[in-house]
Amino acid sequence: MIDDIRKLIQQAAETARRETSDEPEPQFTGDVKYPVECQVGKGLEGAIATDTKVGYVNGAKGWLVYRGYDCFDLAEHSTFEETTYLLFEGKLPTRRDMDAFEEQLRGHRQVPEAVLDVLRRVPIDKTHPMSALRTAVSVLGNLDPDAEDTSPAKEKRIAVQLVAQFPTLVAAIARLREGKPVVAPRTDLGHAENFLYMMTGADPDPALAKVMDIMLILHADHGMNASTFTTMVVNSSLSDLYGSVTAGVASLKGPLHGGANEKVLYDLEEIGDAGNVPAWFARARETKRKINGFGHRVYKAYDPRARILGPIAKLITDRDPGTRKLYEVAVQLDHLVTSELGQEKKIFPNVDFYSGLVYRAMGIETAMFTPIFAVARVPGWTARALEYLADNRIFRPRAIYTGPVSERYLEIDRR
Ligand SMILES: CC(C)(COP(=O)(O)OP(=O)(O)OC[C@H]1O[C@@H](n2cnc3c(N)ncnc32)[C@H](O)[C@@H]1OP(=O)(O)O)[C@@H](O)C(=O)NCCC(=O)NCCS
Repeated sequence: MIDDIRKLIQQAAETARRETSDEPEPQFTGDVKYPVECQVGKGLEGAIATDTKVGYVNGAKGWLVYRGYDCFDLAEHSTFEETTYLLFEGKLPTRRDMDAFEEQLRGHRQVPEAVLDVLRRVPIDKTHPMSALRTAVSVLGNLDPDAEDTSPAKEKRIAVQLVAQFPTLVAAIARLREGKPVVAPRTDLGHAENFLYMMTGADPDPALAKVMDIMLILHADHGMNASTFTTMVVNSSLSDLYGSVTAGVASLKGPLHGGANEKVLYDLEEIGDAGNVPAWFARARETKRKINGFGHRVYKAYDPRARILGPIAKLITDRDPGTRKLYEVAVQLDHLVTSELGQEKKIFPNVDFYSGLVYRAMGIETAMFTPIFAVARVPGWTARALEYLADNRIFRPRAIYTGPVSERYLEIDRR
């Protein structure tokens, strides 16, 4: 199956190259001189908040690049650990660099027992797992004596540690939600393998571990999305990195952002059968409902991550009759939305449309999809927060005030 996955990624890359629009290169590349002139829309659309070498999204062409490397190449050849090194260090590691970095990550996997105790005390089956994760990251900060040290060396150590510890926290939350004991991390397994092991308590199928690794690579960074920007904004006040990442988790949770993957699955279940898609979609259009897993602030072309995840979802749901039907619903919905809204409004599936199906076929509970997204996004959040910190200026935009300015104050009894 691992060879089949490689072939699927190569084919997806081929299709992307063939279908890439020949629109001119959009802005948002090249040298910057501040102040930058740009047109800013509501929700900071089009605003230039900083410059970066971490990653680039070309929304017109459907490109996603980490430090110069195409996401198709990374998905096919890299590992999450190597991609994380790339995002942090700006270059691919040598074998020696990689061994040292992997050892560092493996050494940081354990979380303090006190964090697990807190997770055991929150009503874990009633609160959303992203809310539990947000609490857990915050508690990690309370327990680290270096948390208040915002020197680059300390923040770097904390960033690597958070990359290593997020899977442990998320797996613990998943286990506690199912009333099962927490499984301690192992140091003899790769990052994705160990994550699946801690979720299930069993040695993972190598093919599923490979799929999880690809999922993590494809979600590792994505421009100035809401949760990355949130993390950077909090960090720019020289607050501590734990607090910044806690805020990133809170932002990712929303259904307009990372929370969409969970909502997609509920939609697919609600539709239930491919034959019901046209009526469901017509109703959604009538009520002007936004379809979860479609549309993007930046991509006005097919999201390259969805190009990879669609075929992987097919491959993996083929092995699992329970999810095969949901995949058929998803493909039908993709065709319909893309053919009706693709031309008209440049609405295509985004990363969240097929990711949930992949996780479901792996036997993962729907509410855990967004926490898995968080496991993957820690490198992007922290690489960009640290890059910005090196030449920090607090984020502080303005709002246009539209209220009155000369009201006269009246004592309360005279109002
Ligand atoms: C991602 C998202 C928040 C981007 O929002 P945005 O940049 O503010 O885009 P807008 O809400 O301004 O939408 C622009 C137009 O496309 C339409 N549109 C956007 N997403 C749509 C969707 N998912 N389904 C149907 N129509 C959609 C809007 O209705 C709007 O149409 P109009 O100009 O006729 O009013 C939005 O596309 C969305 O809500 N998608 C669903 C949630 C999702 O999948 N989020 C994960 C993103 S990775």
